[in-house]
Amino acid sequence: MSEEIKVLISREEIEKKIALLGKQITEDYKGGNLVIITVLKGAFVFAADLVRSIDLPLTFDFMAASSYGAGTCSSGNINIKKDIDIDIAGKDVLIVEDILDTGNTLCLLKKLLKDRGAKSVKICVALDKPARRQADISADYVGFEVPDLFLIGYGLDYNELYRDLPYVGVLSNC
Ligand code: IMP
Ligand code: MG
Repeated sequence: MSEEIKVLISREEIEKKIALLGKQITEDYKGGNLVIITVLKGAFVFAADLVRSIDLPLTFDFMAASSYGAGTCSSGNINIKKDIDIDIAGKDVLIVEDILDTGNTLCLLKKLLKDRGAKSVKICVALDKPARRQADISADYVGFEVPDLFLIGYGLDYNELYRDLPYVGVLSNC
């Protein structure tokens, strides 16, 4: 039961990166109408840190979604398990997600939010795992590019556990 966890990205490294991301987003969205949409559950830790490093007036809301079907952005479907309450028409939406993996969910989500009339839709991810990409999508803001390993911590789970770890790690028996 006592799995060993190898630290891949430390708490200190994450803190430094969040400060840089926050600074960049603050510059890019100055004078805009920024709405942060956080994808549950995994992104809640990252989003909580990120919004506190952005020095702009902003609003935020949450979504929970999964993709199914053919798996690609053009033919896949999105299942919205929790939707936002706010109107995003004419707003600058920044989707905040824990990890960009196959990209299928984020690709469909981006399309959906654009269709709802957002002025712009960009993506910010804590982690990017390009080796597994299927959808034609990239993130506009990336914390760390990571290798093709199953990761836990900083919002990421294994069977709903480990989301609370303040670092990104790898289970040694995975
Ligand atoms: P996709 O990009 O549509 O494949 O979905 C990405 C989702 O898969 C993320 O939001 C995570 O919830 C989950 N995921 C992908 N890679 C990992 C991992 O290494 N550890 C834990 N969850 C992961
Ligand atoms: Mg997720």
